[in-house]
Amino acid sequence: MAQTIYPGLAGINIATSQIALIDGIKGELLYRGYDIRELADRVGFEEVTYLLWNDDLPNRTRLDAFSDQLSGLFALPDPVYNLLHSLPEDTQPIHAIRTAISALAAFDENPDDVSTENIHRIGTSLLAKFPTITASFERIRKGMDPVAPDPDLPVAANFLYMLTGEMPNAAATRTMDVALVLHAEHGSNASTFTARTVASSLTDVYSAITSAVASLKGPLHGGANAAVMRTLEEIGSVEGVERYVLDALAQPHGRVMGFGHRVYRVVDPRAIILKEVARHLAEESGDSKWFEMSLEMERVMDREMERQGKQIKPNVDFFSASVYRMLGFPTDTYTPLFAVARISGWMAHLFEQYADNHLMRPRLVYEGPRGRVFKPIDQR
Ligand code: SDX
Repeated sequence: MAQTIYPGLAGINIATSQIALIDGIKGELLYRGYDIRELADRVGFEEVTYLLWNDDLPNRTRLDAFSDQLSGLFALPDPVYNLLHSLPEDTQPIHAIRTAISALAAFDENPDDVSTENIHRIGTSLLAKFPTITASFERIRKGMDPVAPDPDLPVAANFLYMLTGEMPNAAATRTMDVALVLHAEHGSNASTFTARTVASSLTDVYSAITSAVASLKGPLHGGANAAVMRTLEEIGSVEGVERYVLDALAQPHGRVMGFGHRVYRVVDPRAIILKEVARHLAEESGDSKWFEMSLEMERVMDREMERQGKQIKPNVDFFSASVYRMLGFPTDTYTPLFAVARISGWMAHLFEQYADNHLMRPRLVYEGPRGRVFKPIDQR
């Protein structure tokens, strides 16, 4: 009997969820019913994480309690700082994060217990430690000592403070917060599905999150923001964009990074917000090269995809590349920045997975040989 195959599980529903609604036709993204545009405009990363991990936005008392919890969890165990120091200087930051997250399990007094209380404890600890690992390794690989986290700062400000050793200004903190809110959650994307799949064997949170970081790294997923910047650097100028795009699209299965999405058939609502953030940063900084190149790439891709009758539009990674560049981040830290935000969504989904678990075990349709006659090795 012919078996239906779903490459990449496209269109397959694995569970119900209360966390995010992604409407790929309308270009709408809701976090537990709140429109991403309103959340990006009005709340910070801690508030959005509380929303994703609970069933509604917190009141002031609950938000302060959550923030107080985080304040004591930013610091890493000394051996994990030592581990980061021991890595080769040219280690990719995303490799350093994946390694450090895995190592943290060894310093947790109860890593393997998947009770609701314990996975919440570990998740809160990881939410606080992702920015510390990322900022600390960024300084270590430049030959500088890590900056100890300031327990009185929220995640966005603390991350920037641990990167530079200086108190960030309100504008930089707000931009960082918007980027974290926009990247926090996005349904069963590849890295979140990876986390849910790993957790479905009832293994521990550290294993699931280490695997999620590994999946996020790929250029088809969270690695795309860095790939976009490398593309813009390779092209070098606005004048070179059209030729680049036409050459890329002329290749069999050619891809222009930062475009296309498994769900969105219109522009990713996060890209719309990040485009305006990039525009503002370009106007403020006077460094509009990357933003201008991005606008040209969007124009050419729109024209070419229209001509081909394809609904390939900018996704979250396209304008985030120029935003992070104008904020001064090195290109190979863009995917770690994505991870610093997405630990929030990964944990929200792990809470759902562990609470109503079914082992993930899809099937393969066997098309190999049958009934072969065995020959001893000397007769082969
Ligand atoms: C993220 O899932 C999520 O929610 C992810 C994410 C999140 O928040 O977690 O939103 C974050 O990962 C965004 C996506 C970042 N990746 C990129 O920007 C990489 C470039 N994009 C493509 O690789 C692609 O669009 C995917 C992987 C994102 C989606 O691919 P699909 O749904 O598997 O579709 P496909 O690759 O099979 O493409 C179908 C057709 C192609 O036909 P072929 O060339 O294979 O014959 O669509 C066209 C192409 O014609 N196409 C593109 C294109 N992406 C798809 N053409 C040019 N450039 C592209 N980028």
